[in-house]
Amino acid sequence: MKILFYAAKVYDQKSFEPELKKYPEVEIDFIEHELEPRTAALAEGYEAVCAFVSSDVGAETLQILKDKGVKCVLMRCAGYNNVDTEKAKELGITVKIVPGYSPEAVAELAMGLAMAVNRRLYKAYNKVRENDYSLKGLRGVNFYQKTAGIVGTGKIGAAMCRICRGFGMRVIAYDVYPNESLKDFVEYVDLDTLLAQSDLISLHCPLMDSTYHMINIETIRKMKDGVILVNTSRGALVDTDELIEGIRLNKFLGVGLDVYEEETGNVYEDRSDEIMMHSVTARLLSFPNVMITSHQGFYTVEALQAIAETTLQNMADAMAGERTRNDVA
Ligand code: NAI
Repeated sequence: MKILFYAAKVYDQKSFEPELKKYPEVEIDFIEHELEPRTAALAEGYEAVCAFVSSDVGAETLQILKDKGVKCVLMRCAGYNNVDTEKAKELGITVKIVPGYSPEAVAELAMGLAMAVNRRLYKAYNKVRENDYSLKGLRGVNFYQKTAGIVGTGKIGAAMCRICRGFGMRVIAYDVYPNESLKDFVEYVDLDTLLAQSDLISLHCPLMDSTYHMINIETIRKMKDGVILVNTSRGALVDTDELIEGIRLNKFLGVGLDVYEEETGNVYEDRSDEIMMHSVTARLLSFPNVMITSHQGFYTVEALQAIAETTLQNMADAMAGERTRNDVA
């Protein structure tokens, strides 16, 4: 089986190549181009393509892949909001994902962002490098005995609940399907109660029609003053313009974002020499209490290895015609 691996980075090759030895019948070509309608035709002669969070796996891309003979899309990530699964089903293209490759990788980054914005670690680091040992602008709050509100308590949200408990926080959560394994220490509440009571709000639900822009000026107004908001899930859970409005209303002690609405086109690219036009990301970064990282929640040794293992197992299952719980189309 031949796989065309889109948007390949050096670290992808490093994590996939050792695993590939277990599958001598599989050949992978790694290319730097992103999967999108303009590049989909490159997959001619391949049975499968491997794509990522930044790929455009919409109807147009899928149609071209189908026309070129591709039978399977292997997503090397957990979220698949960028895949038109209905179109894939209609075309008979199998789509497989890697759910829960390392929930702790993402949850630990979420707490890292919460800590960084609380204690302004990004500022402190630069200040000391500049021989500025003053503490101006660095005051934070204790997390101990504060309330953490976790939105979405699947694999990553559950890991975040455990981390928050470790900090001595009261943990409350909102989920459409409460997680039984957390009932010893997590109190489930409705979203309004979570917004009103939490000192730290961390988002861990998937992006769907029902969660699109769930954080908007209306929900922001329901939050406590001085709340910390962290999003490591998907950018469009938050309405960026309204987040900016909320920041200007002084609602937030800090905002930590690993994902943000404008990230497609930015993620994993070095654009440091470019002049950014009309960028809401640039506006967000102008605030002293905002820290943004570039969708790096998955980026740990353990997570990369697990992604490679599961993606290749998904491919083997696809070759055997086996449907598993990793199939989303
Ligand atoms: P999961 O499927 O285990 O958990 C998602 C949870 O959200 C489930 O418990 C579900 O019931 C809940 N949920 C669904 N609709 C909801 C709603 N309207 N309100 C509240 N909760 C709702 O998913 P997992 O593995 O925990 O991943 C969560 C998200 O994290 C993924 O969808 C993905 O977008 C993101 N992610 C980000 C990464 C990064 O690098 N920053 C890496 C991996 C995933």
